[in-house]
Amino acid sequence: MFSKFKIWKRPKNSSNLRERIEKVQQLPIPEHIAIIMDGNGRWAKKRALPRIAGHHEGMKVVRKVTKMANQLGVKTLTLYAFSTENWKRPKTEVEYLMKLPEEFLGTFLPELIEENVKVKVIGYLEELPSHTSNAVERAIEDTKDNTGLILNFALNYGSRSEIIAGVKSIINDYKNGKLSEHDINEELFSNHLMTSGLSDPDLLIRTSGEIRLSNFMLWQLAYTEFWFTNVLWPDFSENHLIEAIETFQRRQRRFGGV
Ligand code: FPP
Repeated sequence: MFSKFKIWKRPKNSSNLRERIEKVQQLPIPEHIAIIMDGNGRWAKKRALPRIAGHHEGMKVVRKVTKMANQLGVKTLTLYAFSTENWKRPKTEVEYLMKLPEEFLGTFLPELIEENVKVKVIGYLEELPSHTSNAVERAIEDTKDNTGLILNFALNYGSRSEIIAGVKSIINDYKNGKLSEHDINEELFSNHLMTSGLSDPDLLIRTSGEIRLSNFMLWQLAYTEFWFTNVLWPDFSENHLIEAIETFQRRQRRFGGV
């Protein structure tokens, strides 16, 4: 296995980026950032490339953004990689998307381990092809003791079905006498979701100009700040991540208060 203690040489950031990082770190960094990575297909189309080329480029951006989030001190980064609705895509595209976690982890798991990143997944892993779920489960196992950034992939994830599963599990606990009606509150409900144990996202980013949630973390995003950009995911850079955080830092979060 790869040693956690090997010194990983962080590539030098340009001086501009370095200054920006230092500045953004002077104010609170969002603890949990969630991203709807959109626009891979359009990125490819603009270049007369097949859609899968956009997904491949998007995968490389996952690496860049993960490293930057970790460097900035973000605690959790949730990435919407495949929704329960994405099965409707052409078979070849779905097959390619199912290969990406394997390729990503096959290539970058050593780096993630060296960076102390802990891999997690929300979604219906058991419905994925075994080559995909095996790669993910191995990454979860290999990084389970890491204490840095939690890199949380939403894979075959859908928020409505997550909520229904949560309701069913509460009913089950109620029927088995594990809880009474008075125990049911927001905290208990959160604990019956796939994100149990994670804080709610502070900042949601969606790329490619689409302004919708697409069945993503509907319960968890109740008080999240949203940041939308026209940038297509394969063009998303460290600077865009910092721009989103800078905007977040200028916002006043009131959580319903004044
Ligand atoms: C949406 O863009 C993107 C997806 C459905 C897949 C996102 C996946 C990645 C960015 C790579 C994931 C990497 C790992 C490591 C799992 P789209 O295809 O809907 O773009 P379009 O709206 O322009 O067609």
